[in-house]
Amino acid sequence: MLLLLWLPLFPSALAAQPSAPDPIPAPLRGLEFGQLNFLHTTDTHGWLAGHLQEPSYAADWGDYVSFATRIREKVEARGQDLLVIDTGDRVEGNGLYDSSEPKGVYISEILRHQPIDLLTSGNHELYKQNTSEAEFFTTIPNFRGNYIASNIDIFHPGTKELVPLAPRYKKFTTKLQGIRITAFGFLFDFTGNNNRTVVQPVEETIKEDWFQEAIRDKDVDLFLVIGHVPVKSQEYQAIFRAIRSLRWGVPIQFFGGHLHIRDYARYDAKAVGLASGRFMETIGFLSIDGLSTSTPVFKRRYIDNNLFSLRHHSGLDEDGFPTEQGRNVSRLIAESRSALHLDEVHGCAPRDLWMSRVKYPSNDSIYTWLESQVLVDSLKDESRGDTPALAILNTGAIRFDIFQGPFTQDTTFIVSPFTSGFRYVKDVPYDQAQLIVGILNKQPQILRTPRYSPFTPLAPPEQLAYSNDIVADLTVGASKPQQAPLSGQEPELIPGYTTKDDAGTDGDDTVHSPISFYRVPNCIQALVAANASAVPETVDLVYIDFIERHVALAAKFAGLDVNFAQESEVYMPSMTLTDLLLDWVKTHWKCE
Ligand SMILES: *[C@@H]1O[C@H](CO)[C@@H](O)[C@H](O)[C@H]1NC(C)=O
Ligand SMILES: *[C@@H]1O[C@H](CO)[C@@H](O)[C@H](O)[C@H]1NC(C)=O
Ligand SMILES: *[C@@H]1O[C@H](CO)[C@@H](O)[C@H](O)[C@H]1NC(C)=O
Ligand SMILES: *[C@@H]1O[C@H](CO)[C@@H](O)[C@H](O)[C@H]1NC(C)=O
Ligand SMILES: *[C@@H]1O[C@H](CO)[C@@H](O)[C@H](O)[C@H]1NC(C)=O
Repeated sequence: MLLLLWLPLFPSALAAQPSAPDPIPAPLRGLEFGQLNFLHTTDTHGWLAGHLQEPSYAADWGDYVSFATRIREKVEARGQDLLVIDTGDRVEGNGLYDSSEPKGVYISEILRHQPIDLLTSGNHELYKQNTSEAEFFTTIPNFRGNYIASNIDIFHPGTKELVPLAPRYKKFTTKLQGIRITAFGFLFDFTGNNNRTVVQPVEETIKEDWFQEAIRDKDVDLFLVIGHVPVKSQEYQAIFRAIRSLRWGVPIQFFGGHLHIRDYARYDAKAVGLASGRFMETIGFLSIDGLSTSTPVFKRRYIDNNLFSLRHHSGLDEDGFPTEQGRNVSRLIAESRSALHLDEVHGCAPRDLWMSRVKYPSNDSIYTWLESQVLVDSLKDESRGDTPALAILNTGAIRFDIFQGPFTQDTTFIVSPFTSGFRYVKDVPYDQAQLIVGILNKQPQILRTPRYSPFTPLAPPEQLAYSNDIVADLTVGASKPQQAPLSGQEPELIPGYTTKDDAGTDGDDTVHSPISFYRVPNCIQALVAANASAVPETVDLVYIDFIERHVALAAKFAGLDVNFAQESEVYMPSMTLTDLLLDWVKTHWKCE
């Protein structure tokens, strides 16, 4: 399956990807090891090559393999234990996953080289039937015994019977100290899954006999709840209460994700939760000491995923740090990227375009660029002639910033990984069509995702955390990020994560200057018309197909009497947002 092309030989000490930028030295806070130690990744979304345009996050999965080995050696030398955790959304969001056919074949091969002790599914593993089946037939067997699915079932593609996606829970003891652990693996109350899978609401699952029995087991030193669930969520509160109501003395360790943020929750003196960011930017570290005492000590650290940090925490230099296996994995990633032509350059971005680091609308906003340039220049269905169109896009359709410089095949999938196309309804009165975006943006009470509603959020997931007011990690309304001023001997601080969580402001390993964050609307719109100065009477109401249910509901509020199921049609057949964006870049962003 893997097409191995000719590749330059890599010097033995080299790790990370050949084109990755060198790490920038920065002041670091160390790791505080304990009796039981964890490394945690979540929401990696295919970024196993690391960030090739951002030095702070430029280490790759091969470096992480080396790192986990080095940390394991270190803690085991002290008689302590290490567990490696991943909490899902490993798929969708990077060329390494999305640009192969079938999708994900390189990723699953690369992932398996990290010995992961416990892992779960995210929502992205379940949107499409063939993605969840690939999970069932490849990833779960690759990590046999370690993958847990407490609340997910799948219709077995062979027998058609409904079966657990993976075992419901796992009881095991740690290697060196024999700590007795009962582990669960949950997904939040997700409703957008494909109909060959079933996600049981967490609140139902915890009433099941198997769960009730598992938490009544007295021979347990630690309950370990991992999941693709925000650490501050009703789902984790419910699990915490269920366990605590019966087992008031047993420590509970949660690992979570989904919101793409660094976060740490303290439920009580013996129960905490860690969320470790997104996109291989962060490797979460957590240790517990005094497990059997009345006051266990939890220490957390959000590690920036770059070689400067990883070598520092391992206590090893450039030569001592990488393991042979880690180097092999870095090479496998490089070969995979090469086979997929991910470095192929389609154009050159003249400047940085940001999702949330600048105000919307503004010149440096990726959304302003989309509505004022990409859509206006490129959205056109030949069969509609010069009929003006009002196009609506949800901001969550865009997944990452664009950096000045080469816009590659990889960038294409990083910015717009989804396969959504466009649909439209014709002859919609313009004055009513215009109201729709306002409704989608200004009336969150109509369209917010209540539990069990069929609606998926429209804005990027990072903002969900923000709008729920559960993260205070964001400097709002400040100026464009910039280098912190130099003072005395202090090293210059690089802008980056400055996390504030339930344990304070000292969680990040790297001391950074803060980055500003601005709220973006749920949706943006663009009027695409041959004559920009004429106000049309009617328009084609065009939207990304992914948000049809939202648009249909908002249209009703705007007084439109349209049956979207019957009256909408495909706009620009076989054109996805990703294709549209790429075509625009190829035409307009020539490299000098
Ligand atoms: C699922 O099907 C689509 C459409 O045929 C294909 O592009 C994709 O690669 C498939 N994904 C997997 C994981 O097989
Ligand atoms: C399941 O979803 C597929 C694809 O969207 C659809 O064709 C099929 O009718 C659905 N089946 C059921 C039982 O709803
Ligand atoms: C690394 O790759 C080399 C060459 O393919 C192979 O001989 C070696 O066994 C691999 N080492 C590990 C630890 O996987
Ligand atoms: C926005 O960009 C345009 C074109 O590049 C430029 O003419 C204009 O001055 C910029 N506006 C601001 C506020 O920077
Ligand atoms: C564009 O619309 C304006 C305002 O309705 C009108 O005056 C003008 O003639 C139109 N231009 C073209 C080229 O149709």
